[in-house]
Amino acid sequence: MKMSAVAFARLLLLPLLAAAVGRVGTIPPHAQVARMARYVVNSCDWCSMATISTHKPRVGLPFSNVFSVSDGPRQQGSGVPYLYLTPLEVSVQDIKINPEVSLAMTLAETDYCRKNGYDPQSPLCCRVMLSGTIVKVNETEAKIAKKALFQRHPVMANWPSSHRWFFAKLNITNIWVLDYYGGMKTVTPEEYYSAKPEYERNFIDE
Ligand SMILES: *[C@@H]1O[C@H](CO)[C@@H](O)[C@H](O)[C@H]1NC(C)=O
Ligand SMILES: *[C@@H]1O[C@H](CO)[C@@H](O)[C@H](O)[C@H]1NC(C)=O
Repeated sequence: MKMSAVAFARLLLLPLLAAAVGRVGTIPPHAQVARMARYVVNSCDWCSMATISTHKPRVGLPFSNVFSVSDGPRQQGSGVPYLYLTPLEVSVQDIKINPEVSLAMTLAETDYCRKNGYDPQSPLCCRVMLSGTIVKVNETEAKIAKKALFQRHPVMANWPSSHRWFFAKLNITNIWVLDYYGGMKTVTPEEYYSAKPEYERNFIDE
């Protein structure tokens, strides 16, 4: 059987390409900061969220906690960080009094930093800090939020309804990105939402 030149090239090139890409993982160029922010947000399944505490003995002081997050399917995220929250949760109680929060997400949550030997605090271990207000989404957007969250966190479907879960999002006001040497860079929400969300991804990593 004769193999076409194209088929042969595929056979030869694909493993080479996979090997080259697979070694480091593919992320957006560090200078494309808005795209990097979208990449980090889309790559992360959880975030740290800091609120201003309303609970003794930390009233009025920062309080960090961990939350599951999703902006949609991998490589097709909307950039909107959606959350599934319950009023029974301490940080959510803080948000009710003061919705201003700060979210952090890092590629240390993925294989990228570990595979490349980047410490989570290294500027090369890309991270993003988002600040803004947590807002409950309306019924129309709740359908989008549910799809985004339940796809990444299927167990959410079984969380007890007695906890009065609701869908919320971060209304982003400020974005900081650290993805290289030279200090943090800022991105406006407009730049963030208009950045090209697609990126080449390490396909053997999926
Ligand atoms: C729901 O929220 C979205 C996003 O903020 C908005 O575009 C839409 O108009 C709202 N829909 C209703 C029915 O209020
Ligand atoms: C989101 O934040 C902007 C300020 O950056 C504000 O004008 C807007 O009303 C907020 N939206 C919601 C739904 O809270």
